[in-house]
Parts: sequence; structure tokens; C-alpha cells
Amino acid sequence: MCYTDADIKSIICHAKNLFYLLCALLKISLNSGGLILKKDVVLVVDGISSKTKEFSRRYIVTDAEVVFADGDPGIIDQYLETAKVLVTSTKGIPPEMLSKAKNCVYIQKYGAGVNNIDIGQATDRNIPVGNVPATNSRSVAEYTLTLLLAVYKQIIKAHNELTQNGKWLKTVLRDNNHELTGKTVGLIGLGNIGKHLRRLLVGFDCRVIYFDAFRLPSDQERELGVEFMEIDDLLALSDVVSLHCPLTEETHHLIDDHRISRMKPGAVLLNCARGGVVDEKALYEALKTGKLSGAGIDTFENEPADNTHPFCSLPNVVLSPHNGGGTVEAVEAVVKGASENINSMLQSGTIAQKKYIVNLTNIKL
Ligand SMILES: NC(=O)c1ccc[n+]([C@@H]2O[C@H](COP(=O)([O-])OP(=O)(O)OC[C@H]3O[C@@H](n4cnc5c(N)ncnc54)[C@H](O)[C@@H]3O)[C@@H](O)[C@H]2O)c1
Repeated sequence: MCYTDADIKSIICHAKNLFYLLCALLKISLNSGGLILKKDVVLVVDGISSKTKEFSRRYIVTDAEVVFADGDPGIIDQYLETAKVLVTSTKGIPPEMLSKAKNCVYIQKYGAGVNNIDIGQATDRNIPVGNVPATNSRSVAEYTLTLLLAVYKQIIKAHNELTQNGKWLKTVLRDNNHELTGKTVGLIGLGNIGKHLRRLLVGFDCRVIYFDAFRLPSDQERELGVEFMEIDDLLALSDVVSLHCPLTEETHHLIDDHRISRMKPGAVLLNCARGGVVDEKALYEALKTGKLSGAGIDTFENEPADNTHPFCSLPNVVLSPHNGGGTVEAVEAVVKGASENINSMLQSGTIAQKKYIVNLTNIKL
């Protein structure tokens, strides 16, 4: 059989195409240096702790390349288009970031709240969005209680005055120190975190009242020893109000000047939920005027906050950098839980833990 030049060119062309197809299927890329195995990319967009990185390396067991962008826009841009999985801790995945992530097949939140992930676009593109609820709830509950006790006992002020100014405020602080025992605490949102906190508060003989979009059946209320109240009644009765609902359109500025005006004079507000649940200007005014005696704030409307934030000028607040869920134990549980779906998506394109997918009902898996 005799081949013409055109036949040979066509055979070479087909062979090349077949080769490239094979490379794509086997995730192999070509460069001038030869063949390179092209790994799937898991892009972690946020700055995360070294423990979170350590656990990510331990539990993400596929041969994917896990890129820690540490919030660096340059690194994010470099990997965004190729990344198959996007992971966020607090920064979120905003619309413009997601639209550039053309190869993304899965989005993972390291934690619970998914308010700053563009779920609408993800759903339109049939991308499952996973979170890991309940893994850090015990930590957040402990943290909320810690903030409350720090506010009630003015611990930070006592420590700072002693260590920075050499002041022994033994008697001065006493007028505003309080016992938690026997106080009425109003929980707004009685989900995983709210329930853990309730358990801790019961140890202080607190009366625990709650408001939630979904009221518990009465036998559960009895078992937990909690009383349901409409939000305004809860605000009027509580010595301490603690927020544990998600940030949604409905809960945005749920605590505004009107709601603060309903609160008991001298009450304390705790926000370990999301900054946007509180109108920060209204809270600032209430703390400045003494309408509220103090606040413990772990979450801010714009994060990260810095020391120009008006709250920093207030003597009666304890502030922290969104660290409620950030314990070693919780971080390991979060990453371990998240890795189940990251691994299964990368290995077989399936979801191992459907219960973690927040847009499950609106996508096809
Ligand atoms: N500070 C931190 O480090 C940290 C860590 C984890 C979670 N969080 C925040 O805490 C929130 C609660 O976490 P969770 O694990 O308890 O969630 P969860 O889903 O278990 O509980 C949330 C509760 O809020 C209720 N709720 C929803 N909308 C409401 C509304 N409009 N009014 C009143 N209640 C409403 C729900 O019915 C549910 O019972 C998360 O959404 C997240 O924003 C903060």
C-alpha cells in the first residue's frame, strides 16, 4: 500500500489529536521540558492557620495539589481558572471570583456559615457547595461564654491596666463586675451552637430563653429547659442577649437601634454569629450612652477589622478576630469533615456526605 504525502500528514494530525486527548484524559500536560503530570488543584483562598494547613495536607488524600493562597490576590488569580475545588474559611467566594473559576466542580466552606459564598451562581452552574456544620459549635459556645465572662468580670481591662500602666484596680472595677449565676440569657438562634451554649449556661443556673425562626416541639423545650419567646419579649427580659442565627437577608441588622431600644438597660450583647446581624452604628451608640453595659464581639460587618474600628475606642467591649470556632480540636474536625467531600469529588466526581451540601435540592448530582 502506498501513502501520499497528504495521507501521511492526515495520519500524523490524527495521531497528534489522539495523543492530546489521551494527555487530557490522563491529566498530563506538555511543556518544552517534556511531559508533566497535571494535578487537580484545590485552591484554599483564605489566610488559614498552620494547623489548618497541616490537617488539610493530612486529610485531603487525593494526589491533588493543595494551594494555600493565604488571601494573596496574585496566587488566587494564578490558580483560579484551573482549580477544581475552591475552599474558603472566612473570605468567602464572591461572584467575581467564582465566575473566573471556570473549572470549579466543588466549593467547600471550612466551617458552617456560607453567607459570603455566591450560592446562586454555584447552583446555576450545578456546583455543589459544602459546609461542615456542627464541628466547631462546641468551640464557639465555649468562646461565647468566655467573652461573656470577660465582659462581666472586666478581665481584659484589669489585665491591661496592671501590665501596661501598673494599676491595681482592685476596688475600682468592683462596681461593674457581675455574677453570671441566675441571670436570664436570651439566645437568638437555638441551633448547634445555641444548644451547646445552653448546656453551659445551665451550669450557671441561668434562665435560658430563646427565639428561633423554627420553634422546637414543646417536649424538646422541656427537655432542654428553654422557653421560647418572640424576639421583642426576649430582648426586654434578657440580661444577656447572644446571637447564634445565620446571616441572611432576614437577619441582616436584626439587632438595630429599634431592637436595642427594646433591650433591658445595662444588658450585654454577644455576637459570635456574623457581624452583619448587628447594625454596628446602633450598637456603638448604645454602648457609648450606657444603654448597654457591654458587648463581646467576635464577628464584624467588615472583616478583618482594625484598630480604627469605632468599637476599639469603647471601654466596655471585648473584641476578637472571628476566632470562636478556631480551636485545634474544631479545626481538625472541620478539615476532616470537609475532606470527605473534597476527596470523593476529586476521586470519583461524587459527594460522600450529601448532608453537608447546602444547595443539594437545587442541583443535579
Ligand atoms: N464565630 C465563629 O467563629 C463562628 C463559627 C461557626 C459559626 N458561626 C456562626 O454561627 C451561626 C450559627 O451556627 P450554628 O452551627 O448554630 O448553625 P445552625 O444552623 O445549627 O443554627 C442556626 C439557628 O438559627 C436559626 N435561625 C435561622 N434564621 C433565623 C432567624 N431569622 N431568626 C432566628 N433564628 C434563625 C435556625 O433555625 C437555627 O436553629 C452560623 O450561621 C455562623 O454564622 C460563627
